[in-house]
Amino acid sequence: MKKRLGVLISGGGSNLQSIIDACENGILAGKAEVAVVISNKSDAYGLERAKKHKIPAVYLDREKSADSMSYFKEVGGQLKKHGVDVVCLAGFLLKVEPGIVDAYRVINIHPALLPKYGGKGMYGHHVHEAVINSGDKESGATVHSVDNEYDHGSIIMQERVRVEPDDTPETLAKRVLEVEHRIYPKAILKVLLEAV
Ligand code: GRF
Repeated sequence: MKKRLGVLISGGGSNLQSIIDACENGILAGKAEVAVVISNKSDAYGLERAKKHKIPAVYLDREKSADSMSYFKEVGGQLKKHGVDVVCLAGFLLKVEPGIVDAYRVINIHPALLPKYGGKGMYGHHVHEAVINSGDKESGATVHSVDNEYDHGSIIMQERVRVEPDDTPETLAKRVLEVEHRIYPKAILKVLLEAV
């Protein structure tokens, strides 16, 4: 039986695409499928990517819920409805409520070598700016388990990239993103094998 992935996004969804591709023709073929994509942004391009692959694409507006707890009750309802086994955060910018973390195996991808450059406010270009400003010679991507603290759970997989002397946050982000696309499907496979 294929494991059913629920992917939560807020944006472009290039990591979502790498997961879909791995499920259709790559290392996750026959082992996993994306059962639902949920976005907290109506204009997230990842929703279009899901639709192109005939995957249910659900927009849930955070503003319509009184608080985070009730919002994630709705998210949980969708995960249940679609029979999700593993939740993959892929550029999802809201902090996931404990109810979801307790009920599901939740994993995330972060564009740096955690535990460095993680935590609240450390997302997108902020991460790459911090790495460049620090003078670090390497960065990378991390797939980790999600617990109730930002970017804190155990590390599942990491891969390094060099930081070049002339890197800008944009050039570094691009190099890291290539690694993200490679390791997220691999890390999902690892999680699925561990769960057997
Ligand atoms: C990625 O860099 C990911 O590590 C971070 O947000 C970005 C999402 O990019 N959490 P995309 O939406 O998958 O293209």
